[in-house]
Amino acid sequence: MTIMQLIKSRRTIFDFVDQHVSTDMIEQAIEAATWAPNHKKIEPWHFYHIGQKTRIQLRACLCIAVKNKVARVFPQDTVDEQHPMVLKKCEKFDAIPTILIATYALDDNKVLEEENYAALACGIQNMSLYLWQEGIGLQWGSGDIIRQPETYAALGIDAQKERIGALLKVGYPKSIGQATRKPVREKLTMLS
Ligand SMILES: Cc1cc2nc3c(=O)[nH]c(=O)nc-3n(C[C@H](O)[C@H](O)[C@H](O)COP(=O)(O)O)c2cc1C
Repeated sequence: MTIMQLIKSRRTIFDFVDQHVSTDMIEQAIEAATWAPNHKKIEPWHFYHIGQKTRIQLRACLCIAVKNKVARVFPQDTVDEQHPMVLKKCEKFDAIPTILIATYALDDNKVLEEENYAALACGIQNMSLYLWQEGIGLQWGSGDIIRQPETYAALGIDAQKERIGALLKVGYPKSIGQATRKPVREKLTMLS
């Protein structure tokens, strides 16, 4: 497969088969991530591999996030653990084979901090492409759960030093969707 074929064939994966992804594979994917470009060679990323105990805590954080959202969007609803949206999101969460949390370093210099997020994004794409060529899919999650204080507390992440940039869902694909992109000429301006 050429690099272009790899790039174009990769899709975000939303449904996974019930198959374990080895820790070795995850470590290799993180190795790929760490070779991403990063300004001032800060290597501003950190990855948290979620084990069984932490997953239970993270699930509770997801419940809070969904309940808050339901309360915002459907103020007339009774919001509890049995709300259909909460049940649906938790069911999806339970079906994720491997969860990683990706963070980047905060900095008083806001330009550098923005570049740290950019570097993390490069790293996640490296990771995603590495996994894809191994037949493994990834979904970048950026829902409310990654911004909640409860999530930082559950994972022991110091919100003064690191920010969660992504909740990465990793696993072997159950199905692969289709995608299109706009023609390059719509996104390219040739200046003289
Ligand atoms: C910064 C960022 C945040 C994203 N957040 C979410 C998300 O919260 N939920 C989700 O389903 N996909 C999320 N995605 C994945 C995109 O929705 C996905 O890449 C897009 O649908 C294009 O599909 P493709 O990756 O198959 O080309 C995110 C992607 C990026 C780069």
